[in-house]
Amino acid sequence: EEFIFNLKGLNRYVTNIENMYNCHCLIVPGDADSDESVKREMGKKAATLLKSLIRGKEIIAVTGGSTMAEVPRGITKTMEYENVMVVPARGGLGERVEYQANTIAAEMAKKLGAKYKLLFVPENLRPETLKTIIEEPVLSEVISMIKRADILIHGIGIAEEMARRRGLSQREVEIIKEKGAVAEAFGYYFDIEGKVVHYTPSAGIGIDEIKNISTVISVAGGKKKALAIKAFIKFFSPKYLITDEGAVTNLMNWE
Ligand code: G3H
Repeated sequence: EEFIFNLKGLNRYVTNIENMYNCHCLIVPGDADSDESVKREMGKKAATLLKSLIRGKEIIAVTGGSTMAEVPRGITKTMEYENVMVVPARGGLGERVEYQANTIAAEMAKKLGAKYKLLFVPENLRPETLKTIIEEPVLSEVISMIKRADILIHGIGIAEEMARRRGLSQREVEIIKEKGAVAEAFGYYFDIEGKVVHYTPSAGIGIDEIKNISTVISVAGGKKKALAIKAFIKFFSPKYLITDEGAVTNLMNWE
């Protein structure tokens, strides 16, 4: 693998992105858009990294999506982490159940031998409904854990695709496009400069809270996501970015 990596000159991209965004960058050879095994490999890399970061009592928050679904799959089952807590970073986003953050959090906890708590609050509720719901004592425990997460591991999506996948109305999809959104992560939409231009109200992690999380791991690859990844890392430099050759070679300029 290292041979292929060097042969393809991917190191150049690692150095470039690391210097520009002050993060650790891992690049999987290949393109996740045309090769499913590349997404699996990103998941494995994320799983290995995650295990190496756990000291014993962390709260890990995870988001949904097909890339995140590969992370628990990449973990070899262990019983080592009984004091670790896994929580979804946000509630259900109207996605297929296997891609929902709740499902992925439970899968991850099972693989790690960790504990988990789920958040059964749909996204996209009206603000007044959401406000009432999050004050419910049965939810406050998990919400406070989400907000105290030590590690956040999340995917990055293409704005329009994610808006559609989450069943936003045609009107809302148009608004998001008009506002210039190219990227989506944890329900927030970003333009090419990395500015938040739209969001779906949620009981989970808020945009300002990201900055308080000591370890953020962003995982996203595939040629089509290049711009979305750049937009997101312009908004926030994660500690670790795990991506692929398809994404990094599709942009002339990562600045
Ligand atoms: O928030 C980003 C999306 O969850 C990414 O989804 O991994 O299926 O492309 P994906």
